[in-house]
Amino acid sequence: LRSDGVREYTVTASEGELEFFSGIPVPTMGYDGDYLGPTLHLRQGERVSIRVRNSLRETTTVHWHGAYLPAEADGGPRQPIGPGETWIAEFTVNQPAASLWYHPHRMGTTAEQVYRGLAGMMIVTDPSGPAGLPDEYGIDDIPLVLQERRFSRDGGFRYEPRMPDIIHGYGGNVLLTNGGIEPVFRAQTRLLRLRLLNGSNSTILRLSLPEGPEFIQIASDGGLLSRPVPLKTLVLSPGERAEVILDLREQQGRNTVLQAESSFGAVYTALLVNPGDELRNNGELPSRLASLPAAEIPRAAGRRSFVMSTMGPGGSLTINGRRMDMARVDERVAAMSTEVWEVSTAGMMMNTPHNFHVHGLQFRIIDINGDPPPPELSGFKDTVLLWPGDRVRLLMEFGEYPGIYMYHCHLLEHEDAGMMGQYEVL
Ligand code: C2O
Ligand code: CU
Ligand code: CU
Repeated sequence: LRSDGVREYTVTASEGELEFFSGIPVPTMGYDGDYLGPTLHLRQGERVSIRVRNSLRETTTVHWHGAYLPAEADGGPRQPIGPGETWIAEFTVNQPAASLWYHPHRMGTTAEQVYRGLAGMMIVTDPSGPAGLPDEYGIDDIPLVLQERRFSRDGGFRYEPRMPDIIHGYGGNVLLTNGGIEPVFRAQTRLLRLRLLNGSNSTILRLSLPEGPEFIQIASDGGLLSRPVPLKTLVLSPGERAEVILDLREQQGRNTVLQAESSFGAVYTALLVNPGDELRNNGELPSRLASLPAAEIPRAAGRRSFVMSTMGPGGSLTINGRRMDMARVDERVAAMSTEVWEVSTAGMMMNTPHNFHVHGLQFRIIDINGDPPPPELSGFKDTVLLWPGDRVRLLMEFGEYPGIYMYHCHLLEHEDAGMMGQYEVL
């Protein structure tokens, strides 16, 4: 904490080496280490200054996914950090408690840099939130970064996409959980809070607890839901987060498997939860979590539509028929205004799902194919999954900061291939 009250953080991106399987070192990238990065804990209302050092041999950027902040602190492709350079993001934390994350966003090499290990969680805390939620980091409040990766037979781990990998995404054959394979968590409490992030490049994950309790989802991308939502399965597309509570009361003495089914077909054990015989009572889940405003459309709301296509001109991946161009601003919106953005997928010949992520705000889903969203998708979101043929309407409330932000498909192979656009807040 600086004398002027600004809290300082430093992260360094560097190359590393890690043995995912023993005896086989793999060249990786990480923040302050060989793979992934430290969890940053930000407090609501606080001013922060995050110093990013680039010790890579290539240009990178660091984007704070889900954070509400000035455009110049966003860390998108417009804020490159050359090799050996340092970049500082300074902003005031002004959003509800949430599980956010950070990762590179350099035009054209985002997929490879994330794939090799550059990503970390960023948790916003707010002491005025509801009581009773597990919040002892590492004890009953656990971040889980889930990433499908493609290992070759020699145990190697390279990023070498071919044309089908760009269209369908770079799927894999191993699931990494916080960089490890099938880790075991020894639970000591009755309630366990998992902050789940799908940090895969293009894999959609369907999570379940086959022999265990139900998930009780308490938060989506941008913060708490209005009330806890019991779920048997939980689908997360790349970039999406969910916070869930596991009630382990009935599970004492037996392992609970967190199972992850990949959209590329594989089924993994993402985590083994091993509850001890004596579980500490760490509170009761509140029945109300947050009071969210109704996702109502104001009468004067502007409207725009976005069509995501895998079949653009020349086989390119486009939004509204255009590939990303750094020199072109695609949409201009007024600061503090509200709009309805309708997003749909085209190119039904290519049955690829997409998702739509927007920088600089958290939106609400108005409807999905005309129906109101299920309760787990009714809170604040910054990324929404679209299966082929889907149409979603989003309520976008733009903030106060002028400048240029991105929207894009968060399937990273699609993003790098140009499925991205820029909007300017004026
Ligand atoms: Cu997580 Cu524009 O990205
Ligand atoms: Cu983002
Ligand atoms: Cu896509």
